[in-house]
Amino acid sequence: MTGIEIKPLSASPKLSEALGTMLMDVVAGGGSVGFMHPLSPERARAFWDGVLAAADRGERIVLGAFDDGTLVATVSLILDLPPNQPHRAEIGKMMTRPSHRGRGIASALMRKAESLAIEKGRTLLVLDTAADEGAPEFYERLGYTLTGEIPDYALKPLGGLTATRIYWKRIGGATPR
Ligand SMILES: CC(C)(COP(=O)(O)OP(=O)(O)OC[C@H]1O[C@@H](n2cnc3c(N)ncnc32)[C@H](O)[C@@H]1OP(=O)(O)O)[C@@H](O)C(=O)NCCC(=O)NCCS
Repeated sequence: MTGIEIKPLSASPKLSEALGTMLMDVVAGGGSVGFMHPLSPERARAFWDGVLAAADRGERIVLGAFDDGTLVATVSLILDLPPNQPHRAEIGKMMTRPSHRGRGIASALMRKAESLAIEKGRTLLVLDTAADEGAPEFYERLGYTLTGEIPDYALKPLGGLTATRIYWKRIGGATPR
């Protein structure tokens, strides 16, 4: 993990491009992050344009991990939830470039997302991940509790259905009542 810099991202054409290239790589490698393979560069970039615009509006925090200035991983902390869930946030779009996996970068991003969620007064995190080719064990190592599994929830990027697993984790102090 030496030399990896983690920081929040805001809208910029260069970042949308870098995030889009990473998304295409991850999807091509079978990563279940909401898209089908092949993903066009235009679609990938447009997706991140929207995500980074939402970050600029304060609806989410998009973290990027950089290795010597090159974007190698990202995760989103989604804060914009219904008014009756002000204590909750969601984790989404967690991905590490295939070339940089297994170095603890995603774990570091998750720890940073959790500490930012605590700073924002959030006490409950929720996420889902594909049962096949997703990352259930990764989240379990980070202390997330499995709620259950929904069968045939989504298509895998290269085809075929997979179940999804829903996880939660309490963070920070007690949930306000
Ligand atoms: C899941 C993912 C983000 C992990 O990225 P990473 O930077 O390699 O993760 P880390 O290096 O922090 O891994 C931490 C630990 O979890 C393990 N782990 C990571 N991904 C795993 C996976 N998919 N399944 C099982 N274990 C996994 C690692 O082996 C490592 O264990 P170790 O500490 O004993 O070495 C990456 O594999 C990825 O981008 N996958 C494709 C997209 C995806 O599925 N995203 C999740 C969508 S919800």
